[in-house]
Amino acid sequence: MEREIQSIKTTFEKELANAGDADSLEALRVKYLGRKGIVADLMQRLPGMPKDEKPKMGRELNLLKKDLEKKIKNAKENFSQKTRTAHSAIDVTLPGTWRKPGEIHPITKTLNEINDIFISLGFRITEGPEIETEFYNFEALNIPLEHPSRDAFDTFYIKKDILLRSHTSTVQIRIMEKGSPPIQAIMPGRVYRPDATDASHSFMFHQVEGLMVDERVKFTDLKGVLNIFAKQMFGEKTKVRFRPSFFPFTEPSAEVDVSCIICKGRGCRVCSHTGWLEILGAGMVSPKVFEAVGYPKNKYTGFAFGMGVERIAMLKHGIDDIRLFFENDARFLKQF
Ligand code: DAH
Repeated sequence: MEREIQSIKTTFEKELANAGDADSLEALRVKYLGRKGIVADLMQRLPGMPKDEKPKMGRELNLLKKDLEKKIKNAKENFSQKTRTAHSAIDVTLPGTWRKPGEIHPITKTLNEINDIFISLGFRITEGPEIETEFYNFEALNIPLEHPSRDAFDTFYIKKDILLRSHTSTVQIRIMEKGSPPIQAIMPGRVYRPDATDASHSFMFHQVEGLMVDERVKFTDLKGVLNIFAKQMFGEKTKVRFRPSFFPFTEPSAEVDVSCIICKGRGCRVCSHTGWLEILGAGMVSPKVFEAVGYPKNKYTGFAFGMGVERIAMLKHGIDDIRLFFENDARFLKQF
């Protein structure tokens, strides 16, 4: 039996060395130490052994059992520690945690498109303050105190005479005050109106103002510039029409429509079945405005226009609620 024990030890050591995972370690344990295992088998043979050998063999067998138990236990512990460190180690081949980069807001994108078109036509970009005085927002633009059109514009006052601008036309005045013609600029920015918020109104939105002043700027220059703008913004086939209108700071004034970009002018819900969409106001700069900025009489002529950026983005992308632009909902914003 002593030799048997020896050879069991040797085979066990070999098998242990080959046990590569938790399952084979457990199988090894069952094979040697299980109820019907090799050690149990030897134990069963003990009673039939010669009397003088029994105690020695009993001790030997117990030692063998303890030894195998200890070795399997150690191997198991060793093994689970190894797998644990393997799991917590840094695997440099994994893709890593990835943070999705932000997107450019659809209003900024639309603004950039508008800016690019006018830059290509020789306009430069100028900005003005959002907090203004009544002079720049009203008086200099020929909107006197008692003028009825001032009501629609009457805006958020910070204190007497200081208010949030209700349109970007204020920047026309600031540019003309600062320099003399030729002037060819667009003026993007935020404007504020005391409108109740709904699908088509917001107390804050964006406008792009345009201004061109020189000695012989004509209405046809305005038409040419806006034609190119409309075609580049909405597509080569877009038609433009001018309707007579009124703005205190231009004379004559016009409202400018483009052929409906949804139905191509055939008539649909978006264009109220007219085939046309209004996109901006425009006109020839009023002599009263030139007077307000101190330009000499009858020397210069010029055109101006102003458009709402949200409205253009809504028409272009078929968006039916202006509030979507300001809710910061990624599901909406990531579509552009
Ligand atoms: N300021 C006008 C508005 O906010 C838009 C506008 C109309 C601007 C005609 C202009 C213009 O420069 O000529 O409704």
